[in-house]
Amino acid sequence: MSSLNPNSRNEREPYVVSSKGYTAVAINAAAKAGEFIKSRQGTVKELGTKSSAQDLVTEVDKGAEQMIRRLVLTHYPDHAILGEEGVVPGADAVTAALEEAKENEFLWIVDPVDGTTNFVHGFPFYAVSIALAVRGELTVGVIYDPVRDEMFVAEKGKGAYVHGVKTAVSSETSLGDSLIALGFPPDRQVAQPANLAALQNILPKVRGIRAGGSAALHLAYVAAGRVSAYYEVGLSPWDCAAGVLLVKESGGQVTDTQGNPYHIGTRHVVASNGHIHEDIVSSLKEAGATGF
Ligand code: IPD
Ligand code: CA
Ligand code: CA
Repeated sequence: MSSLNPNSRNEREPYVVSSKGYTAVAINAAAKAGEFIKSRQGTVKELGTKSSAQDLVTEVDKGAEQMIRRLVLTHYPDHAILGEEGVVPGADAVTAALEEAKENEFLWIVDPVDGTTNFVHGFPFYAVSIALAVRGELTVGVIYDPVRDEMFVAEKGKGAYVHGVKTAVSSETSLGDSLIALGFPPDRQVAQPANLAALQNILPKVRGIRAGGSAALHLAYVAAGRVSAYYEVGLSPWDCAAGVLLVKESGGQVTDTQGNPYHIGTRHVVASNGHIHEDIVSSLKEAGATGF
């Protein structure tokens, strides 16, 4: 993959994470890309498809990713970038790209438009998602919703904020009181049957289900306490890296759908306020809907 830059940092240099500069760069890139995307809503000329007829891509996705790459590399030319539009579609290619990218000490994980289908249809629920992993550890996560002008920012160990106000997960302790978000990914082989089984099991137990069509925004909404939990099978690193840090820094929990700890390669994700986490995981297991 030509998009990855080799990391030339001397291993003997002391390791200091001063995430402030990185965060500022992530915020700036997300804001600029977000403005660009919003200005293009309703103007898409060429609609491409990727892994399936439902998996859309536009010139705006590609342009926004270029913009983010340029902005990040201007500041950090020796950092690596794993961006959705630089990777061949398909789970195996994504896994291979991540394996290669993981070797880099500083890895930016970028989804230029999360919610492309919404963007194409003019459904105003899409976002830019940018994360920085330092030696494999998520250190900065930024999600920008240009429609509502909401900038969600998390720094490892320092909490998460939306426009300067600390975010915190919600307090529901039972499924009956919970509002749950889920995603319907384009994959119809594994994800669709899993989702139908999960819906049948979970819908009768909860207050409500929402499926907005942006993994990043759903995770940001878990962080901000706007939904109690979110799950989806078949995600890629760029869909959730920034959002996972937001949820964790807001006091929430993130695992795979079997309850194992999240890592950057986790594809089947449950994020919650912590209180109802086990209930979601056990419901997915009971329904045979973990995606595994
Ligand atoms: C998609 C969105 C959608 C989710 C899919 C993702 P994209 O990302 O997050 O909500 O259900 O799994 O692939 O393709 O719009 O960047
Ligand atoms: Ca995405
Ligand atoms: Ca995308």
